[in-house]
Amino acid sequence: MSSKINKLLVDTSKEINQEIRNMFSSQVQPSDLYMASTHLINAGGKRFRPFLVIKSCELVGGKRENALQIAAAIEFIHNFTLIHDDIMDRDEKRRGVPSVHVLWGIPIALLSGDLLFAKAYETIINHAKTHQTPIRRTLKIIDFITQATISLCEGQALDMLFESMFEVSEREYIRMISKKTAALMEAAAKSGAIIGGGNYHQVEKLGKFAVYIGLGFQIIDDVLGLTADEQVLGKPVGSDLREGKRTLILIHALSQANKTQRKQIVSILGDNNASPNQINIIINLIQKLGSIEYATRKAEKYIEKAKTQLSIFPSSRDKEVLSDLCNYIIERKY
Ligand code: IPE
Ligand code: IPE
Ligand code: MG
Ligand code: MG
Repeated sequence: MSSKINKLLVDTSKEINQEIRNMFSSQVQPSDLYMASTHLINAGGKRFRPFLVIKSCELVGGKRENALQIAAAIEFIHNFTLIHDDIMDRDEKRRGVPSVHVLWGIPIALLSGDLLFAKAYETIINHAKTHQTPIRRTLKIIDFITQATISLCEGQALDMLFESMFEVSEREYIRMISKKTAALMEAAAKSGAIIGGGNYHQVEKLGKFAVYIGLGFQIIDDVLGLTADEQVLGKPVGSDLREGKRTLILIHALSQANKTQRKQIVSILGDNNASPNQINIIINLIQKLGSIEYATRKAEKYIEKAKTQLSIFPSSRDKEVLSDLCNYIIERKY
């Protein structure tokens, strides 16, 4: 099943990459800025959000060709946030290559993210012109993406503020990830449904579906951030601990730890100079406390909730694919 979805994601990547190339065909100067902007896009990525746009469009009866540009626009927003996120998280690797700020420095990295943000809107405008999309639909898509970006900024700010907070509750963590991750997934699914001509009820259901997917997706991202093979993941393992991130895993571990274990975890948390060995010891302790297991079960619950949102849609190949996509989130290795 997972390999089927992998293949569909790869096929979608090819279509999206073509749309992205179209958007970068004319402007190339200053070359540093454009190279920095396209660096991560060219390095790969799952194209999960574009896939969500296209599949949501198809589920409500729309044509995938109509969704491609909107899917590319969402991938621009995503890549903009990744470039800025690596600066905030001081992460030096992403998609198996050095982060943008490592190669071009922070000022150009900031600008290359800003450029992608603007490119997203340029792409939506082009879509409206070439497809003669009704203005009402274009405005809705702009609204979804704008609101998602506002949420993303709030979520990213909370994510960083939590680093210096003593206690963060599970509820606060879920609120934070619903903003930093689930909001863009929601915008992706709703935009796809709008392009496909979905009615209000369908758009809302797909939005909810994507929110639950987003919550599960981020929890698994945090799990992989501690347990994955770094070569496969393409980004640093253990960096959440070095940064002092309050992930669900960490919140659970701290609540389960005895006094000594708690001290041990806290002594490494937020220590950017922690050695790989020290990080490994803490990861093993977290495993022992059952926190990886706990977080994985939580993610599975969100994914189950996501699936139930699809019940209003009649059986179809597209519905099956979206359901398989749910399982893929849990099973993925990167
Ligand atoms: C990474 O997203 C950031 C999160 C919201 C967890 P992805 O895991 O979709 O990253 P790429 O696009 O495949 O690189
Ligand atoms: C995910 O942030 C959300 C955004 C990138 C906006 P993370 O910091 O958790 O994601 P990774 O693990 O670096 O991809
Ligand atoms: Mg990060
Ligand atoms: Mg981050």
